[in-house]
Amino acid sequence: MPKYKAPRGTYDILPGESYKWQYVRALFRQTARLFNYREIETPIFEDSNIFERTVGDTSDIVEKEMYKFQDKKGRIFALRPEGTASVVRAYIENGLHVKNNTSKLFYLGPMFRYDRPQKGRHRQFYQYGIENIGSVSPYIDAEVIALADHFLKKLGLENYQLQINSIGCENCAKDYDKALQEYFSSYRGELCADCQKRLDKNPKRILDCKVKSCQKIAVDAPSMLDYLDNDCAANFQALQAHLEEMEISFKINHRIVRGLDYYTQTAFEFVDNNLGAQNTLIGGGRYDGLIKKLGGKDQSGIGFAGGFERLLLAMKTEKIGFATEDIPDLYFVNIGSKAQKTGIKIMQELRQNDVSVEFDPDRTSISSQMKAANRAGAKFCLILGEDELVKKRVILKDMASGVQHEYPLDSIISEIRNRLASS
Ligand code: HAM
Repeated sequence: MPKYKAPRGTYDILPGESYKWQYVRALFRQTARLFNYREIETPIFEDSNIFERTVGDTSDIVEKEMYKFQDKKGRIFALRPEGTASVVRAYIENGLHVKNNTSKLFYLGPMFRYDRPQKGRHRQFYQYGIENIGSVSPYIDAEVIALADHFLKKLGLENYQLQINSIGCENCAKDYDKALQEYFSSYRGELCADCQKRLDKNPKRILDCKVKSCQKIAVDAPSMLDYLDNDCAANFQALQAHLEEMEISFKINHRIVRGLDYYTQTAFEFVDNNLGAQNTLIGGGRYDGLIKKLGGKDQSGIGFAGGFERLLLAMKTEKIGFATEDIPDLYFVNIGSKAQKTGIKIMQELRQNDVSVEFDPDRTSISSQMKAANRAGAKFCLILGEDELVKKRVILKDMASGVQHEYPLDSIISEIRNRLASS
């Protein structure tokens, strides 16, 4: 047993896996750029109020899952449980609303939630996400959804479903909360302790409870869609019309409330059909009051985030391949100290010419170096011994075909570059 282990709910991304992460991250960056989003990075910890005031004090995240700590000066910080509040904080603090091209932002990075770890659910997990700040047009809602859909399709995923809902605005919530309170009151004794508190403070949160008995009771709860005011209903209709224009299929699911309090109107989830309990690939929605709540202008925003872990699981289930792992172009086999001296120069030059080279000075015999070259998966081997050095020549071996030729030392860089370009 090793003496130290990664904390429960966290994991290492090891060589052999990391190239898959690079692949999905690169594809997300590409997709975001297609829609003209620009990357933002925020700190991993923030003033805990930023999350408490926005995600909601009756949400699971704030009630149970935040990693909070006090610094040496007694300030209370939290490891970010999500990206939206941090991005909005950065947007306001840096005056991004008055700068050009700064209202469409995307991000990638680790988030932290003290949740019960299981397949697709971790305590440190990695999200990709976008935020579009400033527009209230339902076209933007559809475009944000289109970006998520485009990304999943580009990865090759097919077995997922887009589900949409509208959770209305403050105005709709008044009547809806009353209806929920009436409905759940008759089950008060059967609700979990948290939901009993939620019933008075924020009954919508009961719809999102992870406790099985609460979920059962919630099945017949009133639907938000029956309580939308005219504006919210019209926006929801417009969103559906735009999705149809974009030929993006969707299902209305009036049960989607999302686990964070800042949502208003559009809420959506991309749900994988194969993954078990943790099957939400992407979740997002519109947030009307969030920017103002954090001290900004009265602007609206909409965005989404997804977890890379679930994405990789979904890709594995659908047997989708990744771009191949990075392997060295060339393994340098050096025999003898004189050859090594020349070899070091050649390797420097190769790397300066963008050829990736592996060399192991601890291996001295040709057979051990050749074995290592095979294990590394190198495309070519460059073999330089004392004999070749005298002739001012070097051997280049194609590892796939096993064919090898001698070349003059002074032409080897261009020869390798040509061979790599045509391989
Ligand atoms: P969320 O629904 O809390 O939304 O998380 C979004 C996605 O992150 C989930 O659908 C899931 O794929 C992934 N995720 C969440 N928790 C975990 C976990 N413990 N382990 C692994 N993956 C997880 C948000 O975070 C919002 N900020 C999304 C958003 C952006 N809304 C508007 N803009």
